[in-house]
Amino acid sequence: MEPQSTIQDFRALPKVELHAHLSGSISRECLHEVWLQKKDRGEVDLADPLEEMPIGKFDYNLETFFPLFSTYIYSLCNDLEAIRYTTNSVLRDFEADGLVYLELRTTPREIPSAGITKDGYVQTILECIRQFNAHSKMKTNLILSIDRRNTLEVASEVVELAVKYRSQRVCGLDLCGDPSVGDISVFETAFLKAHENNLKITIHFAEAPQSSTPKELWKLLEYNPDRIGHVINVPDDVKEEICRRRLGLELCLSCNVHAKMITGTYGDHHFGWWKGKACPIALSTDDVGVFGSTLSNEYKLIAEHFGLGRKEICGLAREAIEIIFGGEEEKDRLREMMWE
Ligand code: IMP
Ligand code: ZN
Repeated sequence: MEPQSTIQDFRALPKVELHAHLSGSISRECLHEVWLQKKDRGEVDLADPLEEMPIGKFDYNLETFFPLFSTYIYSLCNDLEAIRYTTNSVLRDFEADGLVYLELRTTPREIPSAGITKDGYVQTILECIRQFNAHSKMKTNLILSIDRRNTLEVASEVVELAVKYRSQRVCGLDLCGDPSVGDISVFETAFLKAHENNLKITIHFAEAPQSSTPKELWKLLEYNPDRIGHVINVPDDVKEEICRRRLGLELCLSCNVHAKMITGTYGDHHFGWWKGKACPIALSTDDVGVFGSTLSNEYKLIAEHFGLGRKEICGLAREAIEIIFGGEEEKDRLREMMWE
């Protein structure tokens, strides 16, 4: 906050996290613990997570990042015990970082080998959230993700699950996944159905050049998102429209720098362009387990590289309240906690 501010100062700042993928937020230590438990039971022939993802390695790019889930993390987190263990660990880590509100997102996953349906997967995570919320100052809601690789049928199933569990802390829908694959125009009726059911929507937007054609970006805006994530490769006319709509922006500094999604480094991040425009900003971690930067550290980096003082940092943290999917009562609770 001031030049001499430490990470503890940023941890003490009450914070809101709106863009965090569950499986990407699991720490390596936690993955290692799951691996040890499975190894003891003779259930695993995967490499140790600390070898697969050595501590201190954060240079995952768009080619190496997505396979990490499909070939490794999902193979390790493949039963109810591992899902519960890792979800609880993620919630504890976010709480310890000083969050007072979290919107965690995840892609409903069926795991036939463990008899887990997508519905069962969502229920399991909601149960962890319910138990955690009961004793924590940090309140968590869940966003369900549609993967860009999905068919319309699979996407529609995600919408159905979001509608089914909306009274149990599912607060919205996300569109995510490898930006180099998939045709997002197939999801038209799924998003229509989401709107008919008043579901809030966030979309990974202009994340990589391949997913930033004017055709794709205007189509995504037709889906009427409430918030958009990353917002990197955006032409001027689309930027104007985003400002006109005052969309919420989920900006992920370290992820974009480590994965080389932007040119240059922290000080070159497009946060500098969006700051002070019409759109509320929520600084976000995206995948703290992979990129290693906590939300406190994201605020610290912003303060350092964009010269923000205490007042501006507190103001920025409060901006995120206005774009949560969690409802007016929750906004009031947060405004009280984050008044400074
Ligand atoms: P899960 O949805 O909880 O399984 O979290 C991991 C999934 O989130 C990955 O398989 C990706 O589909 C998605 N994801 C995580 N980070 C990103 C990102 O930066 N861009 C797009 N998708 C992402
Ligand atoms: Zn993301």
